[in-house]
Amino acid sequence: MPRFAARAHSLFGEILDWVLAPLLLLWPISLALTWLVAQELAARPFDRALAHNAQVLAQFIDAAPGRPLRFSLPQPVGELLRSDDGDLVYYQVLDDAGQLISGEARLPPPPQAGATTPSAQPRLRDAEFLGLPMRMAWLHVATGAGRHALVQVAEARDKRRVLAAEIIKGVMLPQLIILPLALLLVWLALTRGIRPLTHLQARIRQRRPDDLSPLDTLAVPQEVTPLVLAVNGLLARLDSSIQTQKRFLADAAHQLKTPLAGLQMQAELALREGASERDLKTSLEQIGLASARATHTVQQLLALARAESGLGIMARQPVDLAQLARDAVQDAVPTALERHIDLGYDGPDAGDKRLLRHGNPVLLKEMLRNLVDNAMRYAPAAHPEGGARVTVRVHVAGGITISVSDNGPGIPEKERPLVLQPFYRSSDTAAEGTGLGLPIVQEIARQHGATLTISDADPSATPPGACFAIQFQ
Ligand SMILES: Nc1ncnc2c1ncn2[C@@H]1O[C@H](COP(=O)(O)OP(=O)(O)OP(=O)(O)O)[C@@H](O)[C@H]1O
Ligand SMILES: [Mg+2]
Repeated sequence: MPRFAARAHSLFGEILDWVLAPLLLLWPISLALTWLVAQELAARPFDRALAHNAQVLAQFIDAAPGRPLRFSLPQPVGELLRSDDGDLVYYQVLDDAGQLISGEARLPPPPQAGATTPSAQPRLRDAEFLGLPMRMAWLHVATGAGRHALVQVAEARDKRRVLAAEIIKGVMLPQLIILPLALLLVWLALTRGIRPLTHLQARIRQRRPDDLSPLDTLAVPQEVTPLVLAVNGLLARLDSSIQTQKRFLADAAHQLKTPLAGLQMQAELALREGASERDLKTSLEQIGLASARATHTVQQLLALARAESGLGIMARQPVDLAQLARDAVQDAVPTALERHIDLGYDGPDAGDKRLLRHGNPVLLKEMLRNLVDNAMRYAPAAHPEGGARVTVRVHVAGGITISVSDNGPGIPEKERPLVLQPFYRSSDTAAEGTGLGLPIVQEIARQHGATLTISDADPSATPPGACFAIQFQ
């Protein structure tokens, strides 16, 4: 398993990350946008003032007819051009021949210097002068009699930058305070938001280990309700499983107690004063039977435990199901002969590739042994004179079915689910048993992905007989 998958995640941290990451990402974006807007805002009033200056200068062109153009700037107006002492402001007035009339000769000419169409509104452009970035306004003025002049005003861009920086500072400083404040609020909200979970944790911690009652779903937030419902479901299943186990343990103890009590009683009978040799022999026979019964119970309990421990710890290998069925019949032959039971196998020979299934041969053999044992034990009840028949069949169609059928009393339909429960034994059965055989069969079938079905062996016959079929996929 990759290491990161094993790491516990903090819901709190995760939500905080998802809130913080976009916030921290948005902050520089908002700063960049503010910077662009601030530049635009700072430029607008300066541009307007610059254009106005160009228009003011144009008014001081003296264009008397028959004389060259003249330009005289009154001192106060010249002062006005500079808004402060450090300002770098240049102007230039050229006549229609391009001759300097007044101002700074080196100012860069406007684009399309030749075009002299007079314009009412000054135009603006960025330029460089004396190695400095400048903003320039220029204006072609009609001075009468078909003459015109060019007026240009240039201003260093520094003060716009300073203003933009001021605006940015004005926006950023409050943000520096608001951002940590927002984080603090998010943190507080999250702490408050997950408080019901902390309460739930405390309530679970305070529970006694044997308290499996459901958790209260009303005391938790709506989003956590499905989780609490799932835990309640688990608690209910756990409760029922613990009850089943308790019942199982009590039944198992009872099953063992009976033969052990018999053993003790027979031993006491044998030891009593004046017991004859015949009494002793009878007691010893009873002791032998009781210990065989106890041994059988322990063996069945172990078999069930082995089946329930699952295939996880038991090796799986390809198993020839025909061979398995044949072996089960073979092993039962001595008992069948002893009880005069007609035991047979009906199915393909071993070695057929279609009959290979992955499984555990020990468990599968245990499963068939129990079914054959049941059939041989319960079928003769319906045939006291002999004539009991037990057949093991292997049938291939889609999946593989192994069935064990007999011509015994059969199992009534409503009793079929009951016989699968541990320790259940039909009340009218005289044969010995613990009631664990069929639960073992069902568990082994389940472990192999197979299903167990119980039916009448021959519904038209009386008695109908029982048929136990294990269907492998
Ligand atoms: N082939 C059958 N015909 C009729 N009744 C059966 C048959 N197989 C099982 N039963 C009934 O189902 C009951 C449960 O069978 P199961 O194999 O689980 O236990 P058991 O045979 O009583 O004891 P164990 O198998 O542990 O020795 C039996 O007591 C019997 O009443
Ligand atoms: Mg049995």
